[in-house]
Amino acid sequence: MENYIHSLKIGNVELNNNIFLAPMAGISDMPFRILCKEKGAGLVYTEMVSSKGMHYDDTKTKKLTEISEKERPVAVQIFGNDPEILGEAAKALSKEADIIDINMGCPAPKVVKNNEGSKLLLDLDLIDRITKEVVKNSSVPVTIKIRKGWDDDHIVAVEVAKIAEKNGVSAITVHGRTRQEFFSRKSRL
Ligand SMILES: Cc1cc2nc3c(=O)[nH]c(=O)nc-3n(C[C@H](O)[C@H](O)[C@H](O)COP(=O)(O)O)c2cc1C
Repeated sequence: MENYIHSLKIGNVELNNNIFLAPMAGISDMPFRILCKEKGAGLVYTEMVSSKGMHYDDTKTKKLTEISEKERPVAVQIFGNDPEILGEAAKALSKEADIIDINMGCPAPKVVKNNEGSKLLLDLDLIDRITKEVVKNSSVPVTIKIRKGWDDDHIVAVEVAKIAEKNGVSAITVHGRTRQEFFSRKSRL
């Protein structure tokens, strides 16, 4: 096990180890993030935050973006489908966050219905525009979190990785299931 644990860098952010707290809506709130940090997590992620909610100054959304000094380094995860609104959120959040992460994996019907989360995996041109705009506007490293594809007929992880790399994304997390699988079956690449 020891060999699997090592320090790493994402952009200019130095992490003590590669054990991360995953972004989990309704779970990865600030107290939980601080607990995980105290137990040794190398990086903690916030729950996903709506870029549209930020755009419209929604109070509940703002609450999700609050960061404590005790939890650093922390990645704030944003979701949405509009490159400009995501860029605007990245610009504001990167004043506080250590890393900005873009959600491209949420399978929830209410998110997918709005062409957000994992639905982005069906529109590589939009992923190109979103990653460009977010990297341009963020003053901290940008990462993305994807599923391996929409369904077994649309496995796009490698194509998305190439687009992300070209546009200056610093790291990619892959959830090894398709959107169609939701959380069923064993995660695999
Ligand atoms: C309750 C719950 C909430 C989640 N919320 C998010 C989220 O906000 N953003 C995200 O990128 N992934 C989210 N995920 C996915 C996890 O981060 C993780 O990628 C996924 O559960 C796969 O890991 P596992 O096979 O260990 O469950 C969520 C998962 C769960 C179970």
